[in-house]
Amino acid sequence: MEKTFAMIKPDGVQRSLVGNIIARYEAKGLRVAGMKIMQVSNEQAAQHYAEHVEKPFYPGLVSYITSGPVVALVLEGKNAVEEVRKINGATNPLNAACGTIRGDFGQEVGRNVVHASDSVESAAREIAIYFNADEVLEYDYLPNKWLFE
Ligand code: RTP
Ligand code: MG
Repeated sequence: MEKTFAMIKPDGVQRSLVGNIIARYEAKGLRVAGMKIMQVSNEQAAQHYAEHVEKPFYPGLVSYITSGPVVALVLEGKNAVEEVRKINGATNPLNAACGTIRGDFGQEVGRNVVHASDSVESAAREIAIYFNADEVLEYDYLPNKWLFE
């Protein structure tokens, strides 16, 4: 089983999409291992988006992610990193397929509703930015019995 980090960004929270988005991850069979509504600090945003610090969109990205509460999630499942990226859809909602979160709910790249880690290594790094070790729970997830043969 693999863990990934996902975030419902401030636009997703303000647009009352939290339940709809989490329902999509759950319906796929991903286990919610950690979840909190929180305000992202400037320090957390800088750590999270360190790879983009030189990009022209960086200042706007930091102000977007810190502009209101977000929902931070740790999701676990087989190939969780790839599955959650697929459920979220392409970075620019204009290119995101219908049926994906960004395809269904977003209209431009600077307000693309959700985030997800792009690798297992990024996931571990990002989980540590937003969660203490005791906030990520291990428990028996009964659907696994019916998800995998
Ligand atoms: P994410 O990290 O949010 O899951 O998205 P991603 O991997 O698909 O995209 P990434 O390249 O990591 O970019 C991070 C976030 O920066 C914003 N962005 N704006 N204006 C632009 O050209 C631009 N490009 C990226 C988006 O909010 C993107 O999700
Ligand atoms: Mg990314």
